[in-house]
Amino acid sequence: MELFDVYPLFDIAIEKGQGCHVWDDKGQEYLDLYGGHAVISVGHAHPHYVEAISSQVAKLGFYSNSVQNPLQKELALRLGKACGYEDYQLFLINSGAEANENALKLASFYNGRTRVLSLEKAFHGRTSLAVEATANPRIIAPINANGHVTYLPINDIEPWKAELEKDDVCAVIIECIQGVGGIRMVDAGFLKELKALCEAHNTVLICDEIQCGYGRSGKFFAHQWLGVEPDMITVAKGICNGFPMGGVLISPKFKPVYGQLGTTFGGNHLGCAGALAVLDIIESEGLVENARKVGEYIISTLTEKMKAGELPHVVDVRGRGLMIGIELDIPYKEPRTRLIKEEHIFTGCSGTNVIRLLPPLCLSMDEAQQFIDKFGKVLA
Ligand SMILES: Cc1ncc(COP(=O)(O)O)c(C=O)c1O
Repeated sequence: MELFDVYPLFDIAIEKGQGCHVWDDKGQEYLDLYGGHAVISVGHAHPHYVEAISSQVAKLGFYSNSVQNPLQKELALRLGKACGYEDYQLFLINSGAEANENALKLASFYNGRTRVLSLEKAFHGRTSLAVEATANPRIIAPINANGHVTYLPINDIEPWKAELEKDDVCAVIIECIQGVGGIRMVDAGFLKELKALCEAHNTVLICDEIQCGYGRSGKFFAHQWLGVEPDMITVAKGICNGFPMGGVLISPKFKPVYGQLGTTFGGNHLGCAGALAVLDIIESEGLVENARKVGEYIISTLTEKMKAGELPHVVDVRGRGLMIGIELDIPYKEPRTRLIKEEHIFTGCSGTNVIRLLPPLCLSMDEAQQFIDKFGKVLA
């Protein structure tokens, strides 16, 4: 059997990782400023994470959601404390798309409506409703194009107001820092007005923190920079450092109903043990603060260099913490490929001309400086 060939691949096979570094099958080392697409939160092969996963799988990897799972309860408790949403409820699944799918479903059970408002350039995943809320017609199959979603511009409240005043919108779903959309940031004023409108019109506000959350922005959640509490928060990627897991954090105003949501694998013992180890490491190593400090350094240094004319082709540097977009006036393809092939640094990208940095949250100042120097070399 052949693989179903949907991914354009670099000709590199990664074999092992440690911290912010990975090695290919020929022994070549790379600095990882991509984190396998914002997934590696606490660093590759962290010993505490390895030990937690290994000892759990040796004991019990999985049992179903039909019995008590104390690890799930512990995770809910610990996550609530870590992010400041202690009175919210946690529903666990296996991926980001599933988190959004369940959040939208729960919103619809709550207010009985079916319309969704989403941002232009949004990415929310590839399952039925999540992909419909994704502003990319190329990945919405005819079977998913069911007319539930209206896409509206970022930081321009009037069109949102006009739609919300119709009193028929089920949910607003929003990434406070758009990832795939090119590191575009929602303003505090816009989000506050949006929240007030949602409240006034019984619309559920969902913050998709799958990429920008879990410490990446330099606060636990990116919306926490903006002073607004959403009704639901979706998480995945960094929650278990590469083991597939997602979650929906649900405000107390939603009451659980037996059987309304469910999953076979979600919240399994192995994933919970990994996610608890991730929280241990985030806390003991101060990774949220590290993301803020190292991210600020990268953004301010690149911005200064851009203004001084030392970074040809760079026209904008934006982001928060370790979620950074570097916009070029040329396609990203050549500099990004040279970073990998010549300087052995992985980065992400978006659109045609944005280089995206999504490293593990343990990136050191030294590693950040290595990137800055080598990026300058590639652009020179
Ligand atoms: C903001 C955002 N939401 C949802 C998703 C979908 O997550 P998954 O690929 O785990 O389904 C992604 C994945 O890149 C994402 O960046």
